[in-house]
Amino acid sequence: MESPMSLASAARARIDTATSEEELRAIEREYLDKGGVVAGLLALVPTLPGPERPQAGRSANELKLAIASDLAAARERLAKAALEVERSGEGFDPTLPPMTSERGSLHPIVQLTRELADLFHSMGFLVLDGPEVETDEHNFEALNIPRDHPARDMQDTFRCDSEGRLVLRTHTSAVQVRAMRRLKPPFRAIVPGKVFRQETTDASHEHTFHQMEGLVIDKDISVAHLISTMKTLLRGVFGRELEVRLRPGYFPFVEPGFELDARCPFCKTGCSVCKQSTWIELLPCGMVHPNVLRANGIDPEQWGGFAFGLGLSRLVMLRFQIDDVRLLLSGDLRFLEQFS
Ligand code: FA5
Repeated sequence: MESPMSLASAARARIDTATSEEELRAIEREYLDKGGVVAGLLALVPTLPGPERPQAGRSANELKLAIASDLAAARERLAKAALEVERSGEGFDPTLPPMTSERGSLHPIVQLTRELADLFHSMGFLVLDGPEVETDEHNFEALNIPRDHPARDMQDTFRCDSEGRLVLRTHTSAVQVRAMRRLKPPFRAIVPGKVFRQETTDASHEHTFHQMEGLVIDKDISVAHLISTMKTLLRGVFGRELEVRLRPGYFPFVEPGFELDARCPFCKTGCSVCKQSTWIELLPCGMVHPNVLRANGIDPEQWGGFAFGLGLSRLVMLRFQIDDVRLLLSGDLRFLEQFS
């Protein structure tokens, strides 16, 4: 049998002349892997006469270390050589197309949400978040919509348990309740987020869409504050002053309640966006109902406020001139790539 010394020099000769990682790996397999030369030598040790065993074991281990260190040195040599070639420009083909990575982009809903968050932040509003699976209490009861109240029919609801305790939130107004219970007045907050309704879908209705709630609780708040905040919002989104009007609207958690319309930003005399009326229905809003303040630990004798529920998905449609709300969450890259 070949001695460990001669095995080592045979391996070194092959390692020194190897020109690729594949060759080195083959030598490594042959000598060092399970079932390789070194493992064979070690397996022989117990079969030798007692006094020879320690030396035989030592020699096999020395062989293993010598080959491992020769392999490491050879790998370093190959890496250096590859770097030299790269640095010299040899093998570089300037006619090849550049390696580019595809860049993603922000979804239009995220783009507008961030713009609005910046705008409201500059007016002292907090940006809040809340759970999408909500309790019936936060979504309805604490907003002055008790069980069996006819206003529940306005928002057809996905229920999450058989007792009807948990729902997919139907509006971001549920976070009004959380804010009133957690924050001390005065405060201002917006809540952008996803909401869910059991809807028959069409170009302007989705079962899953985005809203942005606004809530201001302070002293001596009037409808004038609400209107001026909405005008600032429109200036931020459309880049210019837009006339607004209020129509009466009913929501059990505000009193009085309104629907706020804005002059169509796209025409003067009527177009398909405003359905020839020159007005666009923008958002429901109103002054926070005293029952809601009371139910959420705020004294209506001392504090008042206003709230609004912006249909964020619809505002995104207006801003980016998208004609079907269902495109927004379709995940269709052909649609999304237009907003990069
Ligand atoms: C509400 O959800 C109330 N929480 C809004 C509110 C907040 C009122 C605070 C007063 C004070 P409404 O159901 O109208 O209201 O929805 C608000 C907006 O969400 C609508 O104006 C509309 O822009 C949008 N919206 C409603 N349903 C859909 C739908 N299926 N698909 C897309 N957008 C929708």
